[in-house]
Parts: sequence; structure tokens; C-alpha cells
Amino acid sequence: MKILSVIGARPQFIKCAPLSRAIRKEHTEILVHTGQHYDPKMSDIFFKELQIPEPDYNLGVGSSSHGEQTGKMLIEIEKILLKEKPDFVLIYGDTNSTLAGALAASKLHIKVAHVEAGLRSFDQSMPEEINRVLTDHVSNLLFCPTETAVLNLKNEGITSGVYSVGDVMLDALEYNINIAEEKSAILENLGLTSKEYLVATVHRASNTDSFKNLSFIINAFCDVDIPIVFPVHPRTEKYLKQYGLWNKLCENVKVIPPLGYLEMLKLMTHSRKILTDSGGVQKEAYMLGVPCITMRDNTEWVETVKDGWNVLVRADYEKIKNAILTFEGAEIKNDIFGTGNACEDICDILNEHF
Ligand code: UD1
Ligand code: UDP
Repeated sequence: MKILSVIGARPQFIKCAPLSRAIRKEHTEILVHTGQHYDPKMSDIFFKELQIPEPDYNLGVGSSSHGEQTGKMLIEIEKILLKEKPDFVLIYGDTNSTLAGALAASKLHIKVAHVEAGLRSFDQSMPEEINRVLTDHVSNLLFCPTETAVLNLKNEGITSGVYSVGDVMLDALEYNINIAEEKSAILENLGLTSKEYLVATVHRASNTDSFKNLSFIINAFCDVDIPIVFPVHPRTEKYLKQYGLWNKLCENVKVIPPLGYLEMLKLMTHSRKILTDSGGVQKEAYMLGVPCITMRDNTEWVETVKDGWNVLVRADYEKIKNAILTFEGAEIKNDIFGTGNACEDICDILNEHF
């Protein structure tokens, strides 16, 4: 079987690492990197440390508006599909790279397999929500990470080809957690003590592209007397500088460049709480049993909130501050993301449909 995987953004490199490893045990994989993320710290570092094979194609599309970026990908992916004639196109998550892969393949009648299908925020102002809905509706195999995702698809009339397999990010985390613990010296390097600091990530357009939201978030970070380690996404760095907030970051907020996965995993494992608007980081916080404060109005990962490990605080200064000071995780965790065998299950299902 020949599988062509399309990836392009940081979380997709992390998700693809364990699945690519599983696929290549038995099948041929052609790896296409769209080039949506291209800074070495947003791309190369993940290929190196997670031993992801060198992409067969790098489209080098870079950053631009949604239409231009997605359009460029679509043009190039179509050419590759015509040449490679894969049995399946495998796509991950909800980025512009996901949608481009799904559209190009479905128009050529090549079967589309979507990893992380069925997620919904029910918020059409998020570009990711548009990407998800469109992608799911042209996918032939839909690999759902949670039971809520299966239900969301059912509510949209999608029941055929839907599989509840758990989350490939749990496979990635389980494979790497001990390696990260051993290899990473991030706590020593940053002078941190386990469970005496928080970790923050911010990159969601609704937060970065709004001066009001970004300044509320930064002000809340500054107004608590707790060390907050803040690996900054390039999008966020750009806006912090543009809004004049970059130089206003206080001493307790330790701004650092984006981290590789192993450093990030170790940093999160030892953190007291996590502040984020990332999808992947919300899940990892739950998997690691670290209380998560989500700076969004909604979440696709509703089980993490229901179980008491995640709280939604929007970009609300008071709510963020209050949650930093008072929010604690729950006692019990469930297998909401499966048991860490998602990649094997996905391979078996692909085999059945070949
Ligand atoms: C993208 C995804 C988002 C995902 C995130 C993961 C879409 C619509 N958004 O958001 O769903 O959660 O990736 O991190 O697909 N930039 C750089 N260097 C890079 C990459 C980006 O400087 O290597 C800067 C550029 O200024 C660019 C901006 O970041 O314009 C945004 O990048 P883009 O890929 O368009 O969206 P993300 O915010 O990264
Ligand atoms: N991540 C990382 N380094 C960082 C920030 C995040 O390796 O500096 C990892 C994080 O652990 C998770 C993934 O990137 O595995 C999440 O990606 P991101 O937040 O960029 O996107 P999202 O999940 O919101 O789509």
C-alpha cells in the first residue's frame, strides 16, 4: 500500500512521528511537507529529534493569507498526487495544510484518511473550524481521538468510515516521555524548580491578532508573582512587537524561543499549571495530569473540562489571574484519549480498507 502523508505545521510533525513509524513497518509512505511552518525551531527540530524521515517533497509555501497559502498548496499537492498515485492521502488535524491535502485528493478520487477527525468548537470565526468541517466532509476514513468527535460527526450525518481510535498524541507522548526526562536539561538551564513555575503558550489568531486580548493575557501574566515560562510562537512574537508589548513583559515572565518537543514535554511535565490556547497543549496537560487554564471561549477537548482538569477563561484578565491563583486539577483521570495504541489501530484499519 502506498500512503501519501501531507504535513506542514508544528503539531502535525509531532502527530505524524509515531504514525509514520508504524506505517513504514509494512507500507510505503511518501511524505509531503507543505512548508507552512519553516523556521528551524518550528520545523527541522521536530524532524531531527523525533526521527521523522526527510520529506520526499517540500513545497516551501511559507506564510501568506489563507487563500494564497491554501491555494499554493493545492496546486503543488495535485501535481504530486498525479505523479505518485497513492492509495490513500493521510492528513492530520485542522490546518490549511490539512484542507489542501483533503481537497486535492478528493477531487482526484483518491481516498482521504483524516487523523483527528470530528473535532468541533462550533465557532466559525476560527479558521481551523472551517478546515475541520470541510475536511471531514470529503474524508473516506475518519479517525476520531475522542467519543465526542464520533458524536459530532454523527450529528452532521457522517457515520460511514468513522473509527474511534484514540489520540496519536498520546502515542507520541508515551514514546517520548522517558526520553525527554533523560535528555532534556531545560529545568537546570532555565534555573527552574519542579512544580514551582507555570508554562504558557499563545498562538490562536483570536488572541494574537487582537491588541485587547493579547494585552489582557500579558497583563494577567505580569500581575501574578509566579514564574511563567513562555515559549513564544513566531506569530505571537510578531504581534507582541507590533503592539509594543514585547518590551513590557515583566521579570516573572520568562520569554524563550519555541521549544523542541522533548524540551516542551519535560517543561510541561514539571510545571505546576499550564496556560494555553493550543489544542495539543490542552490534551498533553490532561495526559500529564497538569491543571490547564485555557485562554479561549470554547474548546474542542470538552472531556478535559468535564473531568475537571481544564478551565476556560477566555482572554479575560480577571479570570486568567484568578485561575492562576486558584484552579486545581481533579483527582481522577479517564482514558478519554484512548490507551496509546492509536497508530497501530489506524494502520490496521487502513489495511482493511486497502
Ligand atoms: C497554524 C494553524 C493552526 C495551528 C498552528 C500550530 C492554520 C490556519 N493555522 O497557525 O491551526 O494551531 O499552526 O502552531 O493553518 N511564522 C513564522 N515562522 C514559521 C511559521 C509561521 O514566522 O515557521 C509566522 C508568520 O508571520 C506567519 C504567522 O507566523 O504569518 C502565522 O503562521 P501560519 O502558519 O499562517 O499560522 P499559525 O498561527 O502558525
Ligand atoms: N510544542 C512544542 N514547542 C513549543 C510549543 C508547543 O513542541 O514551544 C508542542 C506541544 O507540546 C504540542 C504541539 O506543539 O505537542 C502543539 O502545537 P501548537 O500549539 O503549535 O498547535 P495546536 O495544537 O494548537 O494546533
